[in-house]
Amino acid sequence: MLCIDVLAVIPELLEGPFAHSILKRAQDRELMQVRVFDLRTWGLGKHKQIDDYQYGGGAGMVMMVEPLHQAIKDLQEEHKYDEVIFLTPDGEPFKQGIANQLSLSKRLLLICGHYKGIDQRVRDHLVTREISIGDYVLSGGELAAAVVVDAVGRLLPGVLNDETSALEDSFQNELLSHPVYTRPQEFNGWNVPEILLSGHEQKIRDWREEKALRKTRAVRPDILNKE
Ligand code: ADE
Repeated sequence: MLCIDVLAVIPELLEGPFAHSILKRAQDRELMQVRVFDLRTWGLGKHKQIDDYQYGGGAGMVMMVEPLHQAIKDLQEEHKYDEVIFLTPDGEPFKQGIANQLSLSKRLLLICGHYKGIDQRVRDHLVTREISIGDYVLSGGELAAAVVVDAVGRLLPGVLNDETSALEDSFQNELLSHPVYTRPQEFNGWNVPEILLSGHEQKIRDWREEKALRKTRAVRPDILNKE
């Protein structure tokens, strides 16, 4: 069982992604537990303040150290985390390999940033890993957290019905996926490639590999021949 806790500024953003389909199944089968916490619970004073102006001047509010420190401490008292992950556009790029790695954990804490960022002391002393889901800036870390939970959750053994299907994903073997087809065999004059109807398993495997290779060369040459 993988337990993922998410510390969010807007927890409502995470209600949808975990309540359906594969991630719902993962939780129903007790292979994964996702809990979302509202950082404001740990906010300061009667306004439950979680952000403040930045020292040195500059536009944009910064998430304060105290609420995050208290929240992480309280959650850690319940159980220790393998990783405390901060979602941020200046983190390590999220790749399939990281998803594979995280899927082997027992407990993860994901921290969603907002505003201009979080006080650097949280990153220096409390966070163990920083992850970016891509070179663009989202308005908050919640959607990034949902992406990480989805990518990790579907890898847990028993979550996908077809055990082999996660292994055949794009990126698992450094190649993009080959094209796939389903019924009908002909639509609008658009035909399914003959080879897939031939029943020749080896030829089909070769065809798929060739297609995957061509696609990767065309679209993502950067991931080919990387040792
Ligand atoms: N928060 C804002 N933008 C982000 C990104 N690209 N990746 C992870 N967290 C983020």
